[in-house]
Amino acid sequence: MTHALLTTPRLALRLVEPDDAGPLSALLAGDSDGIAMTARIPDPATEEGTRDWIVRVRGEGSHACTILHRDSGQPLGVAGWMGCDSPADRMPEIGYWIGRAHRRRGFGSEVVAGLLAHLAQNGARGAVAEVFPENAASLALLRHLGFRASGLVERDLPLRGGLRRLQRLVIDGPPFAVT
Ligand SMILES: CC(C)(COP(=O)(O)OP(=O)(O)OC[C@H]1O[C@@H](n2cnc3c(N)ncnc32)[C@H](O)[C@@H]1OP(=O)(O)O)[C@@H](O)C(=O)NCCC(=O)NCCS
Repeated sequence: MTHALLTTPRLALRLVEPDDAGPLSALLAGDSDGIAMTARIPDPATEEGTRDWIVRVRGEGSHACTILHRDSGQPLGVAGWMGCDSPADRMPEIGYWIGRAHRRRGFGSEVVAGLLAHLAQNGARGAVAEVFPENAASLALLRHLGFRASGLVERDLPLRGGLRRLQRLVIDGPPFAVT
């Protein structure tokens, strides 16, 4: 496996690669409801569309990663962050998506906890997440990990219908690494 950026007890994350388009597109198939909760994943996530998305996020300096199950090597989803390369950017925004068949087994919580630990070790002073207010699963996950609401923000999300309102959540200060 290409070098893992971070690992958790069950998961390994490495930067997403164009060759992941096939397996990720298979994982995304039929999950319009889940994709609709993300800002930038195309729907339908054809292999070509998924490849374009991967190329775009890599070019934007994002640390979008493919989540692999350590035992099986199987891809389970994607997760990562924007920012955190410079001291001025120490509150990176995280994002994540777990394949529909793999939800409710704690992978989402495990991957976000792993991201927070990694960011804390690399100089971040916290992290932010922006969530559609109707996304009960993501809001519950973040609150369990210690995030708190910090207001609504409006974002232009062309793939999600244009201007949308999102709930912003923040975690900062010790102990922000929760693993
Ligand atoms: C949000 C998401 C990552 C959660 O992943 P997951 O692996 O199912 O999360 P976990 O198993 O760690 O669940 C953590 C907690 O979240 C809450 N939760 C998860 N799914 C939920 C649901 N459908 N409804 C309400 N709460 C839910 C529960 O409190 C759960 O704990 P519990 O299982 O002990 O009750 C997953 O649903 C997903 O990928 N959704 C689509 C994409 C998305 O919303 N990304 C986030 C954008 S901000």
